[in-house]
Amino acid sequence: MLTIMICVGSSCHLRGSDDLAEALEQLIDEHGLAEKVQLVGTFCMDKCSMGVSVRVGDSQFSGIKPEDAEVFFRHEVLPRIPNQRE
Ligand code: FES
Repeated sequence: MLTIMICVGSSCHLRGSDDLAEALEQLIDEHGLAEKVQLVGTFCMDKCSMGVSVRVGDSQFSGIKPEDAEVFFRHEVLPRIPNQRE
């Protein structure tokens, strides 16, 4: 199971963490990955400056915008799922 953690701290919340979470949830559904990827909220990751902070497995990203969800999913989430092709 791959875990995607989305920061729901106040700064990230203001920058759209809810919308990003919703978009990623939808992408997970569309790709039939509900049993392979879980989405969880987490508190401030101390990278509040640019956009929403997200952790995928062991990798941390920041500055993710809700409209980036699809590209982010394709580039950073799909390759981290074992036995998953695009
Ligand atoms: S509020 Fe998200 S990293 Fe600080």
